[in-house]
Amino acid sequence: MIRNSSKIEREPSIIILDFGSQYSELIARRIREANVFSMVVSHLISIEEIKRINPEGIILSGGPNSVYDKHAPKCDQNIFNLGIPVLGICYGMQLMVKQLGGVVTKANNKSEYGRAPLIIDEDNVLTNNIKNNSIMWMSHGDAINLLPNNFLQIAHTENTSHAAISNSTKRLFGVQFHPEVIHSEYGMTIIKNFVYEICKCKSDWTTKTFLDETIPRIREQVGNKKVLLALSGGVDSSTLAFLLHKAIGDQLTCMFIDQGFMRKGEPEFLMKFFDEKFHIRVEYINSRESFLSKLNGINDPEQKRKIIGNEFIRVFEEESKRLGPFDYLAQGTLYPDVIESAGTNIDPKTGERIAVKIKSHHNVGGLPKDLQFKLVEPLRTLFKDEVRSLGKALGLPDEIIKRHPFPGPGLAIRILGEISNEKLNCLRDADWIVRDEIKKAGIYNDIWQAFAVLLPVKTVGVMGDKRTYAWPIVLRCVSSEDGMTADWSKVPYEILEKISNRIVNEVENVNRVVFDITSKPPGTIEWE
Ligand code: XMP
Repeated sequence: MIRNSSKIEREPSIIILDFGSQYSELIARRIREANVFSMVVSHLISIEEIKRINPEGIILSGGPNSVYDKHAPKCDQNIFNLGIPVLGICYGMQLMVKQLGGVVTKANNKSEYGRAPLIIDEDNVLTNNIKNNSIMWMSHGDAINLLPNNFLQIAHTENTSHAAISNSTKRLFGVQFHPEVIHSEYGMTIIKNFVYEICKCKSDWTTKTFLDETIPRIREQVGNKKVLLALSGGVDSSTLAFLLHKAIGDQLTCMFIDQGFMRKGEPEFLMKFFDEKFHIRVEYINSRESFLSKLNGINDPEQKRKIIGNEFIRVFEEESKRLGPFDYLAQGTLYPDVIESAGTNIDPKTGERIAVKIKSHHNVGGLPKDLQFKLVEPLRTLFKDEVRSLGKALGLPDEIIKRHPFPGPGLAIRILGEISNEKLNCLRDADWIVRDEIKKAGIYNDIWQAFAVLLPVKTVGVMGDKRTYAWPIVLRCVSSEDGMTADWSKVPYEILEKISNRIVNEVENVNRVVFDITSKPPGTIEWE
């Protein structure tokens, strides 16, 4: 594929050198919450590259290693002589201390994990406005034994004497705790002290500045050429459609492929909303029959996914030829995908860079890598929550912005085994009731996903004087941060009762509702 993504022209005000911490991305998000643009970069970044970016501050992330490990990742020592303020967090602080001539040792019985009250020893700009004895989140096995010259201990905890350190002349700082995690009470104050008071960053990363900078950039990239976007109805592709429409108007064509596996009313809502209300050109492709016929007789979940994925690509290619030609394909790539594909994480055993956790292990609904399009990816610097804010600013309704994640193959993987129109209609009705009641109860936004699953077995029931023999519906409600792990939601009994009553009374061919009480792991969120 010819990659010609819009160049990231805004350089980050703060760069985070990634030493493999699970929190590197979170540091970037916290800084952006303070309206300062930050990005995660590899710890191997060269001094020349840093000079080119010219950031106002550098953060060294935590990491799984000990600084004395054979393959412990390091950064260029000249970073500390650039005159740019540096904040080392956990491993980042220990590395700075070691590289500048201090001593780090195993904390032995003084390893510290979890909450620890922080005691402030010295007035310092980094710890300004932090209440003494406030809780900070610790996670370390090593500790500083001896500070480098010109460094001062500014705070400690019961087990860690050097919990925060500073060399004010050179503007080098370190914290042993993790200010980025939510459990650190004044963590955000530390971050703001660093970015505003020490680095003097401007608070200029907002939806408005993003739009002001991105719209002209999209126009410049695309010129008078035509752009195609595969719209799914999710928040990413919908926000992208609104953004591109604002930038290039009718040069944008959205293609919405209806596989027949969407939820009740969704295709109609999407068309009405985009086409009629906002006059964004959406080509509706009704492929329900072709998807269903390709799945005839197919039971195996992997095979189902594969068939749906292939059929999606076939329809997309056929229809883009029919509607085109197009020069550009718009994709809703987000920043976490970019960080992950950059693979800046470190294997603690070998010191080699490894691809980090794979979030999108399901790529059904994706497009092939060898399409002959140039790419427009204006969301590639944004986190998901930033996309939501952008979507809101562009006028997308909550119905799209706050929509629960929905898998590419849709209801097809929520009907176990073979799919039929009858089962699809049944599941659609049950799913609609689940969402309706969860919304009415006011808990929709507290839940990560709430949906129904249809089991292709029949159970005995009794309705009126008659015995029934019909399908059971599984109710699946989970809470999660990112879909990687999840817990089953403790939905109040009264709501469960309403959902169950309505489903057995209103949905044909269903006589039983069961509630899934499995966490992930070991269960997955979806049933196929
Ligand atoms: P599991 O079932 O693996 O799902 O716990 C984790 C998250 O991924 C979603 N999911 C998918 N998303 N295409 C997608 O775009 C898929 O094929 C797919 N399968 C699962 C799932 O809904 C949950 O949010």
